[in-house]
This record gives sequence, C-alpha cells and structure tokens, in this order.
Amino acid sequence: MTNPAQSETAVFPPSPETIARAHVDAAKYDAMYAASVADPEAFWTEHGKRIDWIKPFTKVRNVSFEPGNIHIEWFGDGTLNVAANCIDRHLETRGDQTAIIFEPDDPDEAAEHITYAQLHRRVCRMANILETMGVRKGDRVVIYLPMIPEAAYAMLACARIGAIHSIVFAGFSPDALAARVNGCDAKVVITADHAPRGGRKTPLKSNADAALLHCKDTVKCLVVKRTGGQTTWVEGRDHDYNEMVLEANDYSRPVEMNAEDPLFILYTSGSTGQPKGVVHTSGGYLAYAAMTHEITFDYHDGDVYWCTADVGWVTGHSYIVYGPLANGATTLMFEGVPTWPDASRFWQVCEKHKVTQFYTAPTAIRALMGQGKGFVEKCDLSSLRLLGTVGEPINPEAWTWYNEVVGQGRCPIVDTWWQTETGGHLLTPLPGAHATKPGAAMKPFFGVQPVVLDPQSGEEIHESPTEGVLCIKDSWPGQMRTVWGDHERFEKTYFSDYKGYYFSGDGCRRDADGDYWITGRVDDVINVSGHRMGTAEVESALVAHAAVAEAAVVGYPHEIKGQGIYCYVTLMNDREPSEELRKELRSWVRTEIGPIASPDVIQWAPGLPKTRSGKIMRRILRKIAENDYGALGDTSTLADPSVVDDLIANRAAT
Ligand code: WTA
Repeated sequence: MTNPAQSETAVFPPSPETIARAHVDAAKYDAMYAASVADPEAFWTEHGKRIDWIKPFTKVRNVSFEPGNIHIEWFGDGTLNVAANCIDRHLETRGDQTAIIFEPDDPDEAAEHITYAQLHRRVCRMANILETMGVRKGDRVVIYLPMIPEAAYAMLACARIGAIHSIVFAGFSPDALAARVNGCDAKVVITADHAPRGGRKTPLKSNADAALLHCKDTVKCLVVKRTGGQTTWVEGRDHDYNEMVLEANDYSRPVEMNAEDPLFILYTSGSTGQPKGVVHTSGGYLAYAAMTHEITFDYHDGDVYWCTADVGWVTGHSYIVYGPLANGATTLMFEGVPTWPDASRFWQVCEKHKVTQFYTAPTAIRALMGQGKGFVEKCDLSSLRLLGTVGEPINPEAWTWYNEVVGQGRCPIVDTWWQTETGGHLLTPLPGAHATKPGAAMKPFFGVQPVVLDPQSGEEIHESPTEGVLCIKDSWPGQMRTVWGDHERFEKTYFSDYKGYYFSGDGCRRDADGDYWITGRVDDVINVSGHRMGTAEVESALVAHAAVAEAAVVGYPHEIKGQGIYCYVTLMNDREPSEELRKELRSWVRTEIGPIASPDVIQWAPGLPKTRSGKIMRRILRKIAENDYGALGDTSTLADPSVVDDLIANRAAT
C-alpha cells in the first residue's frame, strides 16, 4: 500500500477542534484575503492598530516597484517604540507572566523563566549600559552572542534607544564578523566569553578579539559572562556587562522612533558578491511579525511557543523575539542542539515546558527521523497542538514522520515560506482555514499577492497547474526597505529581472487547486541545513588560498542537510592534489566563513567547463554533482568539451 502522504494528492483537512479554536477559519480567510488585496489601505489601517503608536499614522503606504524609483514605506508618519510594544504595554496585564523561558545547552542546568516585569528591568539596564558606552539613536550595534536571554535583551535595548542592531550568528568566523562590523560601521560589539552548544564551547570573545583587529580602534566591546571561561581583556575597549549591570539604572525611557526608522540590519547571502545588509524598519515590520505569529501559529494566551531557530537568523528575529513578544506571548529560547546529549532533547524540552507550538527546520526533522522514533515516543508530547517548518522545502517522508510521530496525527503542520527579505511569512497554510499537503506552502498570507512568471518571457502565468519563478506583486508591511548603504543593489537584486515585481529567487509550482509548492532557489544561493549561503562566497574563500587557481561551487542533494556544498577546485600549476590539501582547504573555508560553510565534497578539477567567452557553465557542474549526466544538455558551446569527460570520470562520491 502506498502511503497517502507520499502522493501529491494527499490532503489533510483541519480537524473540527483545530477549526473551532483557530483565530481564522476558511470563511474568514477568504473574506479577509479578498479585502486585503482589494483595499490594502483599509485593511492595513485596521491591522496597523496591533501596534501601540505614540503618534498614530495617517498615511498607510507609499510604495513604488518602478525601476529607477524603488521605494517602500508603511505607516510612514506614525511614531512608536518597538521595545515598548514588546514589553511596556504588557506590564499592567502580564507583568508576572513569563515572557521568555530559557533552556540552557546543558540539561542539568536549571531553566530560567523571565517575566515581562523582569524583562523590562533587564532591557532597561542593557539600554542604559549601551548609552553609557556612547550608543545613540541611529548608531549600529553588532550582537555576537549565544542563544541566551541577553541576546534578546540586547536586541530590545537597541530598539529602546533607537540604535540599529545587526546580529551575527555565533557560528561565523572572526573574518565574517569583522566584515559585518565594518559593513555597518558599528560602534559596539556585544559578545560573551564562550558559547556552549552541544556540550562544546565556541570561544566567542577570542573570535571577537581577532575580528576587532580588523576594525576601527574606536569600536567598543561589551562582554557577557556565560561560562566564566578565561578571556583576554583589552582595557578601555572591553566592558564587563555583569559588572555594569549591577550599577545600571532600572529604567530607560523608550525613544520615539518613526515607523520607517531602521530597526535592524541582517546580513544575508545572495547569488553574487559578499552578503548584503538587509534593512528592516520599525512599524511595518513589527505589525507584520506580530500578526503572522498570532495567526499562522494560532497563538492564544496561555500557550508556550517554541521556535528552535537561532536569533542570528531572521527566523529568530521575527519568531523568537519580535513577533511573540509584541503579542505578549511566552517564547522559549533554547541554547542547545537537537541531538545532544541525545536525539530526544527537543522532545524532552517540549515535555518539560509543555510546549504547545513547535517550529523547526526540515533538516532537523530529517536528522532526528534518522535516529528512530524511540527518541520521540519516550517523551510526553500531549501538550503539542501545532507544528511548523521553515527554511527549505520539506520532503514528504520528513513531513509524514513529523505529522505521525511528533504530531501524533493531531497537530496541523504549517509549512511557512518566507525569507530574510520578507520579514515574516508570505506563503503558509493557516491551521484552521486550510487543508495541508505534504511539501506545500499552500496559500498567501493576507495582503500578499504571489505570481508565477515564465522565467524566459517574464510574463505572468494565470492558469494552474503551472510552474515558474515566484514573484510578489505589490508590497506588504514586513518587506525589507533597502540594502544597507547600497540602494542600487537592492533594486538590481530584487526588482530588475522581472520589472514591476519583487523577485524572490525561488522557483515554484502552483497546482490545480491553486496551492503553492516551493521548488527551491533558481539562482546561485544554496540552502545547507537551513542556512542560506551564496556559492560565490565559498568560491571567493577558496580562491583566497594560495594553492587555488580557480574554484566553482554548487549545491547537490544531501539526505540530511537538504543541500551539500560541492566544490570543484583547480590548483595552481605548482601544486599537487592530496588528502592533506583537501583537509586544509576545508578548514580554510571554516576559518574564512564559519563551520556552516564547510565543503562536503572537494573534487580536483584540472579544468572547468567554460564558454568561449570564459563564463563557467554551472548548469553542467550542477548536473555532475547531482550525478545526473543524462541531462547535461548542450555542451557544444564549451571552449573545451573534453573537460566535462574528465570531471565525470573523476566525480567524487556524494
Ligand atoms: C528557502 C528563512 C521551501 C527559500 C526564513 C527561501 C523555503 C530561503 C521555505 C530564504 C519553505 C524558506 N519551503 N523553501 N517553507 N522557507 N525557504 O533568508 O529558498 O534564511 O528563498 O529565510 O529559504 O532563506 P532565509
């Protein structure tokens, strides 16, 4: 018998209990969606009220996707403070309610429950410390911390005083950190002594020390004690958070910000060049993060919501910190990894804290699925009501396991498609409104108008079923506003290939029911364990090594990671391939970018397939890495077609 979930016709309608509880059922979705696209002004006037405005907005939107004149503004004349929305406005009714549950890496270390009242004091203190260090409205602060509550305090403290934060994932190398500090000209870097993760410790402070050697001398460093481990100290530059916090004042006045003042910069990978600083602003972003958090996850008072992402990625920004806290929710922050001390850790945490909504990435699900269901079944998961996934397409096998083993067939799965650039969910089923299909991101969120374009002609395809590139017609409040310091790059990356639309970089299919399925990136961005990476970044790290003449990097299907990193490397004439050199290049890339960029495969390539004009034909390299030679296509335009035979003959095992 075939498993119904393996076929594309498998459909899982919401249960009567789910519908009864949901904020939005099918009829309400249809009516609200129609209203949201028919009259966006009226729709967002209403939903902009989720925010407590200091000065209410009178203008809802001012948007142009016209080439040469790209600008996006939402609620443009309103003023607010994001931290006050996430904390102060809840104090009266929820001061004693838990805002953040902190679950440390080590299961023997006690979890911490931080109430909204405590959160208020701690964020105020952090805000005052930053002010003491000279941080003012509009200044940039880089946050390079483990998954500890101080990361949330730091984000909210910046928001409180109007500083712009830029979080750098703690897995990034000193070089990557330095590039980001310099890229946004940060005044302060906030870090910790060490980051415990999976029983190991990353020396964050010494990484920061190494990075700061390549930054202006004026950059200061605020150091949070996490492990108490040894660190070196630079007098005058380094500041001790744990000491300063004892003296810091408990109150800091939230600064009045314009809706369009930047809230944060987050560097993300594109298909070319170095990572770009995605800029999100205050009012629209917060309203959108809050609304999607409440509706997609069907959050209700009393729930315990857990998103397993790291705050170093956009998912952590919108769905651990800003969305949940704006809604007065209880949000769980987990410092560890799913497989340490063993593969039951996620489920033990769910049991311990009675988690109701659980949101993770397909790569984690696949890794845990491989460990067998025993690790799940020994835990009591009866508190779970909804499951979510994000970051990459989920294969039907993993979806089915998630549904049956984790959700016990009882929990709707929301497969949320979105991006760093979009601020919040754009495509997702809503639990009480839509049936789900294994692997489909299903329906647009309110106000979102997805279109499928023919990749060649750029024409919109209206009929279904169809397949093409996924673009979005018109803006939504959570959309990124610009690339930090490079508005031209913003326009070129997202608005120039398909005029008049936001181009997502993803391909998609729309089935006969009109539901959306993401097929993956159509550009040179790869998705490795849910981490987004530009192949160009890995290439530029490789060619920076003295032994390497040329490198081309592509993704290939990887059972657990989704995609693995396959590198074709041409060595300098005087260098010979060896296992040692292979190891050296691997660790070189880890040092240049970070462990997440570690190559899975390095194939020595005496030559790369190039056109006569010298352009590397990546399509061919992708096919070889995928072990799919039948579909190499036309190789006659290559300057030297014999290169391909050599690459196939010496293809590395994947
Ligand atoms: C991919 C993460 C399929 C997609 C929030 C997108 C997905 C990229 C899904 C953005 C999903 C994200 N199904 N693919 N549900 N969610 N993606 O910026 O290729 O780290 O363009 O944002 O992840 O990655 P980013």
